[in-house]
Amino acid sequence: MQTEKLKFPKGFLWGAATAAHQVEGGMNNDWTQWEKNNAKRLAKEAKDKWADWQQKKFPEMFDPKNYVSGRACDHYNRFEEDFDLAKSLGHNAHRFSIEWSRVEPEEGKFDEREIEHYRQVLQALRDRGMEPFVTLWHWTEPIWFNDLGGWTNKKSADYFSRFVEKIAGEYRDLVRFWVVVNEPNVSISFGYYRGSQPPGKKGIINFLRGFFNLFSAFERAVEAIKEIDPKAEVGVANSITHYDARIFPGLNFLITSVIEFFSKFFLRKAIPHCTFIGCNYYSRHLITWKRKKLDSGNRNDLGWEICPGGIYHVLLSLKKYDLPVYITENGIADADDSRRTEFIKDHLCLMHVAIQEGADVRGYLHWSLLDNFEFPEVRGFWPRFGLIEVDYKTMERKIRPSALEYAKICKGNEMEV
Ligand code: BGC
Repeated sequence: MQTEKLKFPKGFLWGAATAAHQVEGGMNNDWTQWEKNNAKRLAKEAKDKWADWQQKKFPEMFDPKNYVSGRACDHYNRFEEDFDLAKSLGHNAHRFSIEWSRVEPEEGKFDEREIEHYRQVLQALRDRGMEPFVTLWHWTEPIWFNDLGGWTNKKSADYFSRFVEKIAGEYRDLVRFWVVVNEPNVSISFGYYRGSQPPGKKGIINFLRGFFNLFSAFERAVEAIKEIDPKAEVGVANSITHYDARIFPGLNFLITSVIEFFSKFFLRKAIPHCTFIGCNYYSRHLITWKRKKLDSGNRNDLGWEICPGGIYHVLLSLKKYDLPVYITENGIADADDSRRTEFIKDHLCLMHVAIQEGADVRGYLHWSLLDNFEFPEVRGFWPRFGLIEVDYKTMERKIRPSALEYAKICKGNEMEV
C-alpha cells in the first residue's frame, strides 16, 4: 500500500488543552458549591440520562463521588510532571486556564501566592519550549461573584476586567496568546438558561442578561489586554458545531443559516476585537426527520457522533473572517482508547484539506492532555478524554497509545496517511 505524507504549515503549534477546574483539584468556587448540593441528584438521574451500554460500561456514574471534582487530577501540584509528559510527546504549545476564584478569592483582594503559582506554571511551559494559550474564563466563578448574581449583574464586566487587567499586567512577559472566554454560547445556555450546570440560573431573562454582560466583559477585557500589551494575541474559544440539515433540499440551506446565525452570534460580535479565532470542534449536529437512518452510528463514549468531515466544513466557514484560526479543542471520550488514534488522524487529515483550500489554521490543541472532570452539565469523571490516563485513586499517569501516535505527528509536523 502506498503511503503519503501530509505536511503541516511551518511553525504549526501542536499540543493539548485543559481547564483549571477540570484538572487542578482543591477548588472553592461556584462549581464546587453546586457539586456538593447536586451530586446525589445527578447520580440518581444517570439512569434516565444515559443508554444501557453506557450505564454498564461506566457504573461510576451512579456514585455521587463522580460528580464532585475534589482532588481532580491534582494537576495543581503535579503540573511540572504533566508538562514533562506533554513535552516528551512533542507538544510545543499548551492551553490551560487561570482560576479566577484562586487569584481573587475575595472581591478586589488578589492572592499573591496564587499569582506566583500561575507564574510558575507559565514559566514551566516556557522552560519546556511550549507556547502557552491562557484562558481567562473557563466557566467557573468566584463565590463572591456568583453571590452578586454572576453574569446577570450589570457590574460583572467591571469585576471581570479588573481581574483580567491584573493578570495581563502580571504575566505580559510570559504570555502571547489570551483566550479571553471559553464557549460563551454553551456556558450561558446551560448555566443561565437551562440551569443544568452552575450557576443553575434559568429562563430567557437570565440568558439575555448573562449573554450581553459576558460580551461586554469580553470587550472590556480585550481593551485591557491590548492596552497593557499591544502585541498580544486575543481570541475566544468558540464551540463550533457543523450543522447538517437534511430536511428538504430547498430548505436545508435556510435552516442551517438560521441556526448558525444564532450559534455564531457571540463569535460574530467578537471578531472585530480578536486577532485570532479559537475553534472547539467535537461533532456534527444532524437535523433530520430520519435521524437513525442517516446517522453513521459511529459514536464516542458520551454518544456523540464522530464526524471528522465536520471540521473541514467548520474551518471553511471561518475563512470569511480572515483571521488565523487555532483549534483550541477537539477530542473524544474514549475510555479504552480504541478510537482515539483514528479520531485524531481523520480530523487532522480533514483539517489539512481545509488548509489546502485556504483555511489559515496555525495550531491544534487536543482536548485533553489528561483525563479530567468532564464539564458540560456536570458529567464528572467517567468520560475519559485524556491523551494521558489518570488513575484517580493513586494519581498515576499513563500515556495512552494514541498519545504516542499523536506525538509522531507533533514531532514531525507531518502525518503519514
Ligand atoms: C469544554 C470543555 C469540555 C469539553 C468536552 C467543551 O465544551 O470547553 O471544558 O470538557 O468540551 O465536553
